Amino acid sequence: MDTEIKKTIEDSCKTVLQENWRENFTIPAEGLYPHQWLWDSCFVAIGKSNYNTKEAQLEIKNLLRGQWANGMLPHMIFSDHGLHKRDRNIWQSWRNAHSPDDVSTSGFTQPPMMAQAVVSIGEKLKVQERRSWYQDMFPALVAYHEWMYAERDPHDEGLILLIHPWESGLDNSPPWVNQLHMHSKPWWVSLVEKTRLDKAVLLFRRDTQHVPPGQRLNNIDALLYYSVLQRLKRKNWDIDAILNRSHFAVEDLAFNSILIRANTLLREIAKTIGHKIPDELSENMKKSEDALDKLWDAYYNQYFPRNFVTHKLIKEPSISTLLPLYSGAVTKERAAELVKKLEDKKLFDTKYPIASVPLSSESYKELGYWRGPTWINTNWLIADGLKRYGYHDEANRIIESSIKLVEASGPYEYFSAKNGAPAGARNFSWTASLIVDFINRM
Ligand code: GLC
Repeated sequence: MDTEIKKTIEDSCKTVLQENWRENFTIPAEGLYPHQWLWDSCFVAIGKSNYNTKEAQLEIKNLLRGQWANGMLPHMIFSDHGLHKRDRNIWQSWRNAHSPDDVSTSGFTQPPMMAQAVVSIGEKLKVQERRSWYQDMFPALVAYHEWMYAERDPHDEGLILLIHPWESGLDNSPPWVNQLHMHSKPWWVSLVEKTRLDKAVLLFRRDTQHVPPGQRLNNIDALLYYSVLQRLKRKNWDIDAILNRSHFAVEDLAFNSILIRANTLLREIAKTIGHKIPDELSENMKKSEDALDKLWDAYYNQYFPRNFVTHKLIKEPSISTLLPLYSGAVTKERAAELVKKLEDKKLFDTKYPIASVPLSSESYKELGYWRGPTWINTNWLIADGLKRYGYHDEANRIIESSIKLVEASGPYEYFSAKNGAPAGARNFSWTASLIVDFINRM
């Protein structure tokens, strides 16, 4: 691609990021997403570190305002804007003693991209600045990683469990929808489904006021998400109470793959500043690398997420299938198996890769939310992993196709993997910022 064209795309992405900037953090998109989201901000910081390390650092520091006393980084920090105040009442995370007093947050987390964001920024700083940046961030990162093992790995297996699909960041991905319908369907949702009253739900949904309903989750799934949230709130966001008598807890493949990479980066940070990672955390980190093996299915030749209670693999393929490439912890042979799937035209190899659900899956829906379209953040994660395994051509193809999507339509939230049609929110921050990163790294 011509350098002039790339420069124009890069500038327009930077303009979007500037428009979405709110004093010390970036909203994912105007209207639909008015608050600060955890992994969105990490992706924004990764892209921004290429041209404005100060704002990238502020973005990350602002996330720490929301950190709970037990170390958890919540997936949302609510905006103070009057209009959006009702969102915090839906969550009532103040019911939990660990939540901060002066900031309103959600009650659970999102994929641990923080260490990656900290390192992406660190790499752009001079030695002395990098050290002091890492020194500032290290205690919060250690506390966050310790929290994951303390609260979300009760069987000491090295696999972190999630309690709501939103924690995975891949909200409506088939494994999660499968588990919701199997283990978390209250009678009243079944009744609404049977009586076909679900259309009335549209009146209360904010997302479908911004994006066509066919591009979001269906009303029944939206009700199920809401009902899980209500249950977690009734349990005061307390993990022991939540896990008591519930089958709805998933050892998510994407989340655990991202955690393994984050652990490696945390080690790198510790080494740079000459700090020691606490022994227990260090042991747990090692355990996670080995534990990925428990998610491998020899018959299907791929990894799957697992139900925490039944220990059964959830055999629904999705974009998570490819994320162990990002973890860096799989053998070269297994990485090669995953690359085969990436390049299979019946699965992930579409005209505009990477489809978020393989084409052959019954769950595939061209513009369905996390059910088929191409997302730029998962492209970034997989391209990064591919490069570390030496698959440079494969990574560059994904990068070039991502840039083309944005060149044609602007930084939308997601795109049809078949014909590149844009969908979801327009002027979406992580698309804009990761395209800036792609352009700068080519
Ligand atoms: C949606 C996405 C999630 C993202 C959030 C804000 O919920 O599924 O990954 O963090 O929007 O952009």
